Amino acid sequence: MKTSKITIFDTTLRDGEQCPGASLNIKAKLEIAKQLAILGVDIIEAGFPVSSPGDFESVKTIARNVKGPIICGLARSLEKDIDAAYGAVKPSARPRIHVFLATSKIHMKYKLKKAEDEILRLAIAAVKYAKSKVSDVEFSPEDASRTERAFLYKVVEAVIAAGAGTVNIPDTVGYSTPFEFADIIRGIRDNVPNIERAVISVHCHNDLGLGVSNSLAAVLNGARQVECTVNGLGERAGNASLEEIVMAIRTRSDIFKGFYTDINTKEIYKSSRLVSKLTGMPVQPNKAIVGANAFAHESGIHQDGVLKERITYEIMKPEDVGFEESKIVLGKHSGRHAFYARLKKLGVDLKKAELDKAFERFKELADKKKEIFDEDLEAIIGEEMLKVPEKIRLVHFDITSGDRIKPTARITIKYSGKIMESCSTGDGPVDACYKAIDRITGIPGKLMDYQIHSVTRGKDALGEVSVKVEFKGKMFSGRGASTDIIEASIKAYMNAINKHATCG
Ligand code: KIV
Ligand code: ZN
Repeated sequence: MKTSKITIFDTTLRDGEQCPGASLNIKAKLEIAKQLAILGVDIIEAGFPVSSPGDFESVKTIARNVKGPIICGLARSLEKDIDAAYGAVKPSARPRIHVFLATSKIHMKYKLKKAEDEILRLAIAAVKYAKSKVSDVEFSPEDASRTERAFLYKVVEAVIAAGAGTVNIPDTVGYSTPFEFADIIRGIRDNVPNIERAVISVHCHNDLGLGVSNSLAAVLNGARQVECTVNGLGERAGNASLEEIVMAIRTRSDIFKGFYTDINTKEIYKSSRLVSKLTGMPVQPNKAIVGANAFAHESGIHQDGVLKERITYEIMKPEDVGFEESKIVLGKHSGRHAFYARLKKLGVDLKKAELDKAFERFKELADKKKEIFDEDLEAIIGEEMLKVPEKIRLVHFDITSGDRIKPTARITIKYSGKIMESCSTGDGPVDACYKAIDRITGIPGKLMDYQIHSVTRGKDALGEVSVKVEFKGKMFSGRGASTDIIEASIKAYMNAINKHATCG
């Protein structure tokens, strides 16, 4: 089988940084560039050197310090831009200058106010000028997807003749669709006589959410370089996402027969985290490949499938993109299989009856709390394992509290088989509850220690209360957990009472 490498041109530091709110300082850019080199990208477009002294310096710093990939600087088709780009990329062992000029009627008429002949002349002159500085020159007819086909072919042919080794076809405003974009690339291959002398590149924006699809359609029709960004960052809705393109080519090798990239996919997740951290742009949880939920399974049916055989619901191995493993999210949709499997992983060995009880507790908690973490399970299991025969059990409680009223608690409990109710005020709601319980049992407890901590993260976290209570001169500890801290406090107190009733 004939194999073809797809060159990955990363523009996270140039187009990606054009994402509103995502600006990076030199140190951050260098750190990202070093990670991109480890990731295995072929070309790093490090910036637009003429745009600011800071951009110039960061491209130059990257050119000096990052070995391996080609280091590229962007330039308009102007000598001063090309000079700046050259000055910045020169220290690299493999410098590239990327010149661009808009070729669509809309851009020529409203933005540049120039006619086709002049655009053609400027594009040729810019490529020749860049070529006099470096041997590796790329040209982009900006807004190519909205450019008249005949004129696009003419420009592409002319810039290749002038020395461009790569012609990049941008879908600048993310307007194209896969069938149309494939046709544009095929059209260039069929109608530009000297096209064999250049690499066809594509650069797709994501305004219609089609950046990756358009890029992949182009690959199947002759493009051999793809311009993309980590996490799909970029101007407006962003650029085609690097990780999605790379993993689509790899995962669907039946469709992308013989195509490969040199990306070390195991570095994808780390690169994504770094870019997100340094740009301050969060990755949406359901983002393909790198989102927190990309390998997380919540539905009981899916969890059961994945636990039996991963490929039932996973088309990629999480480890292949640098995730540790698939995540079984325990929540209200989870079934016994996932629950037992997680306990096994935590090293918990319960008897069948205890497991069933713990599963019941888990389901109750899952109704109140979105995600059940390992620490929640430990608290549930702790309760199950520490269970003592229940002489006293909570049925209901109501409290009123505030800074202008006396805290009051009404408690209904089952005590020695009978339902009983009592009411009390107290210094605070917990004190009121404990006094109300004491009234029912007739055994006043002296609270010697009270501690509360949040078992897990988030507003719906499980609170765990530990108490030490003295009954008739003897000390008993108790523990209780709930998403409601008053309920956790009551459970902890009752746990101590039950211990007293059993061994006291
Ligand atoms: O989107 C675009 O057209 C660009 C060019 C500079 C390649 O970013
Ligand atoms: Zn762009």
